[in-house]
Parts: sequence; structure tokens; C-alpha cells
Amino acid sequence: MQVENTERSWGAVQQLLHWTIATMVIAQLIVGDIIWLSPEGSTPALTSYVHPTVGILIGLFMLGRLVWRETNKVPAVPEDIPTGLQALSQATHYAFYFLLICNPIIGYLLLGAFGGHSHFFTALLPNAIGKSAFYSSFYFWMHLAFGGAIGGLFLLHAGAALRHEFTLSDNVLRRMLGFLPMTAERQAVQDDSATVDRARVPRGALAARLSRSSR
Ligand code: HEM
Ligand code: HEM
Repeated sequence: MQVENTERSWGAVQQLLHWTIATMVIAQLIVGDIIWLSPEGSTPALTSYVHPTVGILIGLFMLGRLVWRETNKVPAVPEDIPTGLQALSQATHYAFYFLLICNPIIGYLLLGAFGGHSHFFTALLPNAIGKSAFYSSFYFWMHLAFGGAIGGLFLLHAGAALRHEFTLSDNVLRRMLGFLPMTAERQAVQDDSATVDRARVPRGALAARLSRSSR
């Protein structure tokens, strides 16, 4: 398995980080909502240890992933995707980076303003701000809005990935999964760079699309 990204696929590092972060984000949204909906003070382990630790890890992993992405190749977007959708996809990805790096910081400030304490695993972190009714309300609404935006983007993003796999039948989901074969037929539709021997591309709906696009 390729560790680094190529023009055609994400490497093992990006794939591992992507799916680890995705799992952690879903868990984090659920745990955050449990804390929010529980009576105050009834979830001390979740509030002071689990949620802060997972949140800080998400922020650090996203930072690492951003650095890896900027110093690596990024697989090209399939050429038959309209420019507007390509821009929406890029915007969604950068919004994920922004929100998932900022929200742990907002959460940390929120917990301090509440008068609570954040832990990273078992290490107690010093509070950056003291207890404050104004700031606890301010950061609470910010944290809630960012959490809601992350949830909304998740639905949009996962829906788009499934559309690529089942409607557009290109390699976009497969090149992030890493374990399903990327077919030549799908690759030819996705990448019109003529590196695939089209005579060997099987007949079918995708081949028809391919021959249409090469006219
Ligand atoms: C990417 C990381 C994070 C995500 C996606 C996230 C998401 C959420 C969500 C959806 C909620 C419930 C709604 C709300 O009260 O805002 C929540 C609550 C909360 N989060 Fe986070 N969070 C993250 C990181 C953190 C971190 C690092 C901390 C603290 C160090 C933190 C502290 C809190 C606290 C104290 C609450 C409870 C607020 C209340 O019930 O009044 N969060 N989080
Ligand atoms: C909250 C969870 C998720 C987050 C934060 C997330 C974040 C991201 C980000 C930031 C990228 C862009 C990669 C880059 O440019 O560095 C990406 C790509 C991708 N994600 Fe997710 N993702 C999540 C969940 C999912 C899920 C559930 C699926 C599938 C159903 C999925 C499928 C994909 C695919 C296929 C790509 C590659 C797009 C391409 O090659 O152009 N993601 N994801």
C-alpha cells in the first residue's frame, strides 16, 4: 500500500487519519449532545476527561493532516464534475479543517468559563480564562453553532461520497477507502488523461459515458 498520496489516490496516512477522525467526530458530537442534555454536573467523566481528550486529539490530527496534505500530492477531482460542485467540495473540505481545529479551542475556553477543568487523558490543563457568565454563554453558542455546522457538513459530505460511488460510479470513495479495487473503467471516466488503454475498457453504461466524453 502506498503511504503517500498520488495523483490518483489518497495514501495510507491520509486514509487512516480520515477514517479515524471521522469516527472520532461522530462520537464527539454524540458525547457533546449527551453532556448538553444531561442535568448539570451529572456527567463529570465525560465533561472533564472524555470529551476534552477526544476533542483535542481531533484538532491535533486535523492539523497533522493539513500539513501532510499541503506537503503531498492531492488526487485530482474527476473532470466531469461541474465547476460549481468542485468548488463546493473544496469549500466543504476546508470548512472541515477550519471548524475541527477551532472547535476544540472554543470548547476548552467554554469549559474554563463554566468554572470546569479540561483534561488531556489524565493531565489537568490550566484554564486560560476564569469563570464568567458572559463568556460561558458566548462560547456555548459558538461551540453549539460550530458543532451544528460540523454535523450539517458531515451529512452533505457523506451524501456526496455515496453519490460518487453509486450514481456517478467513479473512484472517489474507493480512493479514500483503500480496500476496494479501483477499476480501469471507473478510472477512465474519472481521469480523462488517456493513460488507460480504452480498447480494454469493458462495454456498458460507463463505457458509453466515456466514449461520449472523448468525442
Ligand atoms: C472537534 C471537537 C469538538 C466537537 C465536534 C464538539 C462538539 C460538541 C457538541 C455538539 C456539544 C453539544 C452542544 C453544545 O453544548 O455546544 C458539545 C458540548 C460541550 N463541549 Fe464540545 N466539542 C468538541 C471539543 C470540545 C473540547 C476540546 C472541549 C473542552 C476542552 C469541549 C467542551 C464542551 C463542553 C463543556 C460542552 C457542554 C456544554 C453545555 O452543556 O453547556 N468540547 N461539544
Ligand atoms: C465527520 C466526518 C468526516 C470528516 C471530518 C471528513 C473530512 C474530510 C476531508 C477534510 C476531506 C478532504 C481531504 C483533503 O483534501 O485533505 C475528505 C475527503 C473525503 N471524504 Fe471525508 N470526512 C468525514 C466523513 C466521511 C464519510 C462518512 C465518508 C463516506 C461516506 C467520507 C468520504 C470521503 C471521500 C470519498 C473523500 C475524498 C474526496 C476526494 O477524493 O476528492 N468522509 N473528508
